[in-house]
Amino acid sequence: MAIRRILKYGQDDILHKKSKPVEKINKRILDLLDDMAETMRSADGVGLAAPQVGVLRRVVVIDLGDGLLELINPEILETSGQQQGPEGCLSIPGAAGEVIRPERVKVKALNRNGEIIEIEGTDLLARALCHEIDHLDGILFIEKVIPDTLEGKDA
Ligand code: CO
Repeated sequence: MAIRRILKYGQDDILHKKSKPVEKINKRILDLLDDMAETMRSADGVGLAAPQVGVLRRVVVIDLGDGLLELINPEILETSGQQQGPEGCLSIPGAAGEVIRPERVKVKALNRNGEIIEIEGTDLLARALCHEIDHLDGILFIEKVIPDTLEGKDA
């Protein structure tokens, strides 16, 4: 495992690009998952998407403190409700602001064994799933932030 460099907003176009689906779960992807988990933890984050480490593949890791979630090719199947809450991003250090997200989301993905998994998240997990899946489409939270609530970023 290795800690990878996290790309920062304003320094890299990769963060704004759309990631491609993973076609084959090979050693490269398994190493990516391992490295992403290590990188996220070393940066004290709760989620990380592959483009944040410069890889335009649809891979996400999330850990809200109750176990690591590894998602390959995640897709949102259903959403319901609405919540507003604070977000930050390892690619935009120091910035935070409120974003409106669904209260509940259902996501389909592959795990590292290539098995289809379904995850239902509410509250913080719903927020994390939406935030990380947005990264795979090149969308950063500051593009959705409620402007008055944004702190720590002049942009
Ligand atoms: Co982020």
